[in-house]
Amino acid sequence: MARIFVTRKIPDAGPNLLKANGHEVVVSEKDGVLTKMELIAALGAAPYEAVLCLLTDKIDDQVFIAAPQVKILANYAVGVDNIDLAAAKGRGVLVTNTPGVLTDAVAEHTFALMIAVAKRIAEADRYTRAGEYQGWAPLLLLGVNLTGKTLGIVGLGRIGSRVAHFGGRGFGMKIIYYDVARNEPFEKEYGAVYCSKVDDVLWQADFVSIHVPLLDSTRRLINKERLALMKPTAILVNTSRGPVVDEMALVAALKNGTIRAAGLDVFENEPKLAPGLAALDNVILTPHTASATEETRQAMSRLAAENILAALEGKPPPNLVK
Ligand code: GLV
Ligand code: GLV
Repeated sequence: MARIFVTRKIPDAGPNLLKANGHEVVVSEKDGVLTKMELIAALGAAPYEAVLCLLTDKIDDQVFIAAPQVKILANYAVGVDNIDLAAAKGRGVLVTNTPGVLTDAVAEHTFALMIAVAKRIAEADRYTRAGEYQGWAPLLLLGVNLTGKTLGIVGLGRIGSRVAHFGGRGFGMKIIYYDVARNEPFEKEYGAVYCSKVDDVLWQADFVSIHVPLLDSTRRLINKERLALMKPTAILVNTSRGPVVDEMALVAALKNGTIRAAGLDVFENEPKLAPGLAALDNVILTPHTASATEETRQAMSRLAAENILAALEGKPPPNLVK
């Protein structure tokens, strides 16, 4: 039997699986994110061998030093930018994530934002609720079509590929993409065009959707200069990580018409929004809920637990982050 700490209440599939395997599972009782000091105190309360943690937990060497018996951190997310991976490696702590099970949910949410922004759904809803609707009008709340437009994917991993699939197959969009690696089978399947520079996606695409992980090389990848390359009619969607976009530069670009509109599920300083962002009508905001479907959050819970079980049995966890 091992002791496992879960840093916040999550859907029960994973904790139940761990308990069914004879382990003791302790779930943080705090209704919110543990501060680093609270996390360190919690991990010091018992000899936990595994931690199921969340993307809101900032985990660095101080945590590893305070809890030297921890063998594995199973992050309840695909992104692992909340964990100091070099420190984990140095301390011999395994880190795993939850890829695959959230691909459809996030790709669907990306399209929900893309369509909602193009069709001005949130604005239209506010307008209608406010009782402003006075009858059909030929110029009321005009949006733009997706069909036949050029969709630019920045980061062609699982999620980026799935978004391309929805756009190409569902809306007949022309697909262009940037990634550090070229994917020729994907190009053949979707008639997609590779851009070796992100700039080449930005000036050609009508819709730009970001799917890179947060790394030093992708921090503020979309900055003022790159926003200026985009078409004034372009729509930007970000369901990856907030710091990939310079949010103040985006607010300015949305205000002065550098681009048409944006849809954001992630923010540079979550949960804070850049000043001025929430006042803009040409942006739709969701609170980092792209993977938030009942099916997906249970599947993430189960997968995180499977990674812990493997590690505790001394086997390579299926989703080891290198
Ligand atoms: C969510 O943002 C995730 O990385 O799973
Ligand atoms: C994440 O799962 C990705 O590869 O996009």
